[in-house]
Amino acid sequence: MGHLLGIRIQRYKALHDVVLGKPEHDRTKDDLPPMACLIGPNGSGKSTLLDAFGFLADCLAENVEAACDKPHRGGFETLRTRGSSGPIAFDLYYREDPKSRPISYSIGIELKQGIPVVAWEEIRQRRLGQKRGRPFPFVKLAHGKGEAWSGQSTKNEEGSERVEVTLDDPRKLALTSIGNIKDHPRLNKLRAFIEGWYLSYFLPDAARAIPVAGAQKHLNRSGDNLANVVQHMERQNGGEAFARILKDIARRIPGIQSIRSQKSADGRLLLAFNEKGFKEPHFAANVSDGTLKMFAYLILLNDPEPRPFIGIEEPENGLYHRLLNRLAHEFKRHAANGEINVLVTTHSPYFVDALAPEEVWLMQRNEQGYAEVQRAADIPTIRELVDEGMPLGSLWYSNHLNDRVSP
Ligand SMILES: Nc1ncnc2c1ncn2[C@@H]1O[C@H](COP(=O)(O)OP(=O)(O)OP(=O)(O)O)[C@@H](O)[C@H]1O
Ligand SMILES: [Mg+2]
Repeated sequence: MGHLLGIRIQRYKALHDVVLGKPEHDRTKDDLPPMACLIGPNGSGKSTLLDAFGFLADCLAENVEAACDKPHRGGFETLRTRGSSGPIAFDLYYREDPKSRPISYSIGIELKQGIPVVAWEEIRQRRLGQKRGRPFPFVKLAHGKGEAWSGQSTKNEEGSERVEVTLDDPRKLALTSIGNIKDHPRLNKLRAFIEGWYLSYFLPDAARAIPVAGAQKHLNRSGDNLANVVQHMERQNGGEAFARILKDIARRIPGIQSIRSQKSADGRLLLAFNEKGFKEPHFAANVSDGTLKMFAYLILLNDPEPRPFIGIEEPENGLYHRLLNRLAHEFKRHAANGEINVLVTTHSPYFVDALAPEEVWLMQRNEQGYAEVQRAADIPTIRELVDEGMPLGSLWYSNHLNDRVSP
């Protein structure tokens, strides 16, 4: 499965020029760890950074104009960093699997006659045996025209073929159009990687609704298909294995003794939560927001075909503070075992207490109003203090991370 090593974002809202993890051009930086967490004052750009991933996925799924015009984004002019005039640009640095050479994916978006278009799109990878120099651009387009090399990267592109590419729609990415052509396995994988990204905006009330019958493979963004996903899990795993998953999940939610699924007369799957002290179960409609939220996260993490990238906004909302440390450990464990990327924003020191300084990035705005990102491990003395046994969240709470917040 694909794994994100780093990303550079330019001129996307407050992110004038921000790097997370390792970019292609800087080998001194560390890869993004499986679990990464963004902290920082209100308005520092945490949600924007998560949304940048959603934006890229929307560019691929639809086109750059549609991605800019989503209601919460408000169009290209609103999105581009105030006072700047260049294109909005992204450089993604990722690996298809642990043994493959990293691939960079760059796109730039600008306005042409009032419409957002793809100014450039480039995909690069070092050739087999190439140690130095710029990675080879096996896809290179400017304003919808360029070339792509089919096949896998070999020493001198033997066995691969150069094809001219002309896109008929300047708002579309080449990855959307040629990303599913069989001769381009690297593009197929990159496209599938981005298509697999998952950003959670879990709404307990949406998840509580009695679902229509039917199994669905993955949890959607609001979580309102939670019961359908559970139904899919039951079918995929069979009765016993599924009961084991529910048992494991129930063990991790305080106050819950067991979770069972029950079929309604019309074939829907109802979730019954057995709480301590009560004989009769509660159905999803009646359990608390926090219980349902915790359950949804655990279902997400137990997905038999995990998403390569999961972004979660403020998971602490509605959860008891003592649960947060455990939740952070669950995210870390699943991210490392499943070799996926989990990116979380949080305001909770309890959540951060479970993390290492290499897993936490502090975001703040500089004098110009641009967002800056600094890894906690790169802030002087933080590593030493954590090594001495100080939990990172407590250091943050007691102002050791030097965040500048006006009173
Ligand atoms: N085009 C733009 N150029 C510069 N800054 C922008 C632009 N659009 C929005 N912003 C700024 O970005 C900020 C929004 O940041 P964001 O919502 O990502 O913050 P956050 O860290 O998630 O905050 P919170 O903790 O409150 O959720 C706003 O303060 C807004 O002023
Ligand atoms: Mg936010």
